[in-house]
Amino acid sequence: MKGSPYANNDEGEKILATSSAQIHSEFSNPNLEVLIPAAEIQRKIEELGQQIAREYAGRNPLLIGVLKGACFFLSDLLRAIDIPLSIEFMAISSYGSSTRTSGEVRILKDLDVPIEGRHIIVVEDIVDTGLTLSYLLANLKSRGAASVKLVALLDKHERRQREVEIDYLGFPIPDHFVVGYGLDFAERYRNLPFIAVLKNPEATQLELPK
Ligand code: IMP
Ligand code: MG
Repeated sequence: MKGSPYANNDEGEKILATSSAQIHSEFSNPNLEVLIPAAEIQRKIEELGQQIAREYAGRNPLLIGVLKGACFFLSDLLRAIDIPLSIEFMAISSYGSSTRTSGEVRILKDLDVPIEGRHIIVVEDIVDTGLTLSYLLANLKSRGAASVKLVALLDKHERRQREVEIDYLGFPIPDHFVVGYGLDFAERYRNLPFIAVLKNPEATQLELPK
């Protein structure tokens, strides 16, 4: 690729050649299998943004992003919604460093503003068991919001334990642990511009420098 700092080594792997070390490319890490390419994500976000702009025309919705995973989706999505809006963030406990949810939900960072009478759009990266979202949506409704809707980039429907209505959905996906575009495994891989299946989670930390 033109402008890429990477070259292929003798084994055909992509590496960043420096004078002292060979640093492997994260985006072409062999432990990842691309599920949704970057261009497809961006195309879908355009579509969702236009749909939301049409349906909220004449209103001033408040988009609430769930930290940290949804930040990336939120920042692209809001630039595709061509009406006045504002954003806030919340942090909710979900997975620790493992690939399965604990089922326990706690608010780690709450909103800085009252939402009474506001039209809320919760922005989430993925709905998995639905435990986090069913708790969060009920919590926001109880604060007197005029309406609460949900936009999620990914839906892993097979894993659902609580019913959650997704008003605007990017992509349904099968039951695989996925990373990239904000989604992490032990805080790694959020920077991938695409969504990938993590083939071997155990290998993730072994190869990392401090
Ligand atoms: P839920 O409460 O089980 O629906 O979990 C929601 C949260 O778990 C998401 O916001 C993600 O942070 C995390 N999560 C669920 N599935 C995945 C995955 O496949 N990869 C990375 N994080 C995930
Ligand atoms: Mg999340």
